[in-house]
Amino acid sequence: MPHEVQGVVSLAKGEPTQLASVLVPDPGPGEALVQVQACGVCHTDLHYREGGINDDFPFLLGHEASGIVESVGSGVTGVAPGDFVILNWRAVCGRCRACARGEPWYCFATFNAAQPMTLKDGTPLSPALGIGAFAEKTLVHAGQCTKVDPAVSPAVAGLLGCGVMAGIGAAINTGGVRRGQTVAVIGCGGVGCAAIAGARLAGAAKIVAVDVDDRKLATALRIGATHSVNSRATDAVQAIRDLTGGFGADVVIEAVGRPETYEQAFYARDLAGTVVLVGVPTPEMRLDLPLLDLFSRGGSLKSSWYGDCLPSRDFPMLVDLHLQGRLPLDAFVTETIELDDVESAFAAMSRGDVLRSVVVF
Ligand SMILES: NC(=O)c1ccc[n+]([C@@H]2O[C@H](COP(=O)([O-])OP(=O)(O)OC[C@H]3O[C@@H](n4cnc5c(N)ncnc54)[C@H](O)[C@@H]3O)[C@@H](O)[C@H]2O)c1
Ligand SMILES: [Zn+2]
Ligand SMILES: [Zn+2]
Repeated sequence: MPHEVQGVVSLAKGEPTQLASVLVPDPGPGEALVQVQACGVCHTDLHYREGGINDDFPFLLGHEASGIVESVGSGVTGVAPGDFVILNWRAVCGRCRACARGEPWYCFATFNAAQPMTLKDGTPLSPALGIGAFAEKTLVHAGQCTKVDPAVSPAVAGLLGCGVMAGIGAAINTGGVRRGQTVAVIGCGGVGCAAIAGARLAGAAKIVAVDVDDRKLATALRIGATHSVNSRATDAVQAIRDLTGGFGADVVIEAVGRPETYEQAFYARDLAGTVVLVGVPTPEMRLDLPLLDLFSRGGSLKSSWYGDCLPSRDFPMLVDLHLQGRLPLDAFVTETIELDDVESAFAAMSRGDVLRSVVVF
């Protein structure tokens, strides 16, 4: 018998989301049924609703989630009923060309549940990022469940499932920030502030936060930035160079996803430094840079997908560091809300009022 629960669905492009009854099947082979405890509201959920990801409506939104495993299907050995888990969208296959060469964080054939969740009339739902956790229960592949210390608050833990992991990983995995380095982060929303927390954890000596909104800069300083620059009023490239002995930062993380901020990141970087693009651009965006500058400035220009994370390696470690007081993840939870507040949370996000609103069940 499927489980009937309430979920936040997006039925048609650009229309407001709504609460609907969702039928969640019992887990089949390799699957897990999870009682969702908390799920953050991410920009990507809004992108789905606006048709910016794909046209596979109707969607079951929500993907930054934690919860308790209720039951598992046959063949599942990694998690068991009662386990507290963070859901991830990178259940690695272990066999594709990336996994085979020992780089599973690039896995090109990640797993999701095989059975669909549906509306009451049987219409299959597309779960956001293969998760769909704005619902009391969700069905995922068991590999999408990562067991962590249940002492952490569910609202905090869920955020590691997407944006916060993307930011921390952009700094420590993709950017490879090391002790004593200088780092600049352009765009201090949830992802950029997480990159700042990651750079701090890695021991960066100087962390320059850049944004156009003073409220975001105040949060960035609270989370670990050593300097802040409002690029509406000040030339960000010059300011970062001035703060780094005239050279530019060793690692610059772009967490906006726009050509003009990427260009700032490119020129705010020291010779042979690293630029990490974690912000997601839209299809029409173009970049125009002198090819000679790409050559003569050297170093590396990288993109970061989901912080190049490996959930099984990174989630338990980051939860432990948080519980030790070394990673202020609670600073990312601006407000906790109810399931039917997701639309107003989208509005608060668009106004820049919040780092994260988190639905708590
Ligand atoms: N690569 C990944 O795996 C991954 C994962 C999650 C999110 N993302 C992307 O990361 C980006 C940031 O996500 P978020 O949740 O932090 O969004 P957000 O809207 O909370 O933050 C964006 C920040 O950029 C600032 N900003 C806007 N224009 C700016 C400019 N010209 N100069 C400086 N700052 C500017 C805003 O004031 C805001 O603080 C998005 O593009 C999102 O899609 C990437
Ligand atoms: Zn793989
Ligand atoms: Zn997300």
